[in-house]
Amino acid sequence: MHQAKLLDGRVVAAAVHERTRARVEKLRQQGVEPSVAFFRVGEDPASELYVRMKEKRAREVGIRSEVVVLPAAAAEQELLGRLEEKNRDPGTHGVLVQMPLPRQIRAEVVCQAIDPSKDIDGFHPVNAGKLLLGDPSGFPPCTPAGICAIFRHYGLVTAGAEVVILGRSNIVGKPLAALLLGKGAQGDATVTVLHSQSRHIPEHCRRADFLIAALGKAEFVRGPMIKPGAVVVDVGVSRLPDPSLPGGSRIVGDVHFSEALRTAAWLTPNPGGVGPMTIAMLLANTVEAAERLAA
Ligand SMILES: NC(=O)c1ccc[n+]([C@@H]2O[C@H](COP(=O)([O-])OP(=O)(O)OC[C@H]3O[C@@H](n4cnc5c(N)ncnc54)[C@H](OP(=O)(O)O)[C@@H]3O)[C@@H](O)[C@H]2O)c1
Repeated sequence: MHQAKLLDGRVVAAAVHERTRARVEKLRQQGVEPSVAFFRVGEDPASELYVRMKEKRAREVGIRSEVVVLPAAAAEQELLGRLEEKNRDPGTHGVLVQMPLPRQIRAEVVCQAIDPSKDIDGFHPVNAGKLLLGDPSGFPPCTPAGICAIFRHYGLVTAGAEVVILGRSNIVGKPLAALLLGKGAQGDATVTVLHSQSRHIPEHCRRADFLIAALGKAEFVRGPMIKPGAVVVDVGVSRLPDPSLPGGSRIVGDVHFSEALRTAAWLTPNPGGVGPMTIAMLLANTVEAAERLAA
């Protein structure tokens, strides 16, 4: 029986980390110590875990990291003041604020307060604009950049292909559409972006040579929605109840894995697909920021 080949994000992320480590080493030889500041507000356990994972990976590739923790009741102005300190610090090359933020702090104001040249998440409007204009001097958001890196690693060419993206968020769907629509070997696709108001979703999906699901709806993409031989990327992370497991739940993606395995040519496992790429691209952006400053 046919079975899709897996797009192993752990392998691709390890290769990206290896390249980042070599770039860090080169910078250190020039007397530059790449450095990143992670901001966290409050005690959200998931945010704590994410920041810890980012710190660990940064350490592994030789990037110095500092975590700035503010109390859950911190005022927006306090966070903006602390960000400004890092914007001005020539020894800090990357700045990231872990989302979500408490209600009194507006995420869009925070994104705009980070110096675009240190915005390793790529969420600042200047970087979003550069992405749309095809200007490589910005920073692409990490999850979409990670998906493109997976394609590159496995030699999957999007030029001329039908790409369908499920989801139009500012952090995944829209920037991914911009990357794949851009001119050049890594883009040149015909891109369709679907969202909650789209009609005929299964029909659109069935046309896709590359189908990317980023909507956060557990197992939304079923086998019959996939064109035989397609490349399927599952970005979603949802929790489904499963009393047979110790935690009482299991993590699933936006794609029904076993059905997709029988139809697609290539498929990301989930976990182990897109997830590991996000931190890898974040650290690649950090070293890129340090290289630009050193140039
Ligand atoms: N692995 C990683 O590193 C990583 C990184 C980022 C996100 N994620 C995961 O990826 C998923 C998406 O994240 P996000 O931040 O992009 O989510 P989001 O901001 O919630 O956006 C979801 C998008 O999906 C669309 N959508 C929702 N239900 C739909 C439906 N039934 N049919 C068609 N479209 C629908 C929404 O449409 P509207 O715009 O019309 O509401 C929206 O555009 C989440 O599960 C998230 O946890 C994973």
